Amino acid sequence: MAVTAQAFNAAASMQELYELLAACGIQNGWNKPEPSLWPLPKKDFPPAHWSWNIGRAALDAAGRFVNTELAERRNLILANPVPGNTYPTVRTLVAAYQMVKAGEVARSHRHTANALRLVLDTGADAYTIVDGKKIPMEAGDVLLTPNWRWHGHANEGPADAYWMDFLDIPTVHLLGPMFFEHHPDALEQATEIDANSPCRFSWRDTVAHLAHAPETAPGVREIELGSPALATIALHVTRLEAGASMSVEPTTMSAICAIMQGAGEAIIDGQTFAFARGDALAAPSSCAQTWTASEESYILRVSDKPLLERLDWLRPVPAR
Ligand SMILES: [Fe+2]
Repeated sequence: MAVTAQAFNAAASMQELYELLAACGIQNGWNKPEPSLWPLPKKDFPPAHWSWNIGRAALDAAGRFVNTELAERRNLILANPVPGNTYPTVRTLVAAYQMVKAGEVARSHRHTANALRLVLDTGADAYTIVDGKKIPMEAGDVLLTPNWRWHGHANEGPADAYWMDFLDIPTVHLLGPMFFEHHPDALEQATEIDANSPCRFSWRDTVAHLAHAPETAPGVREIELGSPALATIALHVTRLEAGASMSVEPTTMSAICAIMQGAGEAIIDGQTFAFARGDALAAPSSCAQTWTASEESYILRVSDKPLLERLDWLRPVPAR
């Protein structure tokens, strides 16, 4: 029976009020099991570390059982180990290791999620095709595929190609504007090679720009790739000389850090991780970080900074 205004007028007790509210789909706001406001951001995504040594072996194993016909992409998702999670690496972003074997293609598609990839290991003639142009994939390159741009992969060389993908899909899941479609030609046709594409930050350029960047701390230099690289994602590369150390104060920003080159140790929210080339580390919001290089290291930080800045939610968070 429908609840009427008269029923509320006649309610004789708090309990009766609760029963009437429940019957018409209204929650009381003063007696919730969980408060909806709290004084400081929750730390509900922990830091985490994934080793490329393991990731590459896992991709090679997947390469024996999974072809690119079966899988839209042969990728391994770096899901944050927080209990119950199966997808995001940090709250707003996801990372994955991916391989396209020698001679294979990964058909073209497009989606509203913004994406980028860091090339880890590859031979000659591996390409990401973006909007009909072949963009070379060389180790250390960072390639962008912004919102709704066609992209596919063709490995025409003799060696398997490996890279790390980063996407804002968890943000798209939250906000809802997901669109995805396959290219009508399966792999988009492309003949022109565009090594100077605005969607490519070559390793050679990154190293050269860092050599001339000012020091932000002794032995530490940093540049931004793009400004920002994507609407929702900023990319920064930090170079630490051997023995150099940098601290990152906790903020509301979430990041995934990828080791482009080098080795050392990261302390994120009090947890210590040894890192090496190709590794990925989750640096969630509210986590203080200290990075120390045992050999010259280049670290790519993939963050949600532009999203938070645009919403005026980029803030320092007190250390806890
Ligand atoms: Fe894609």
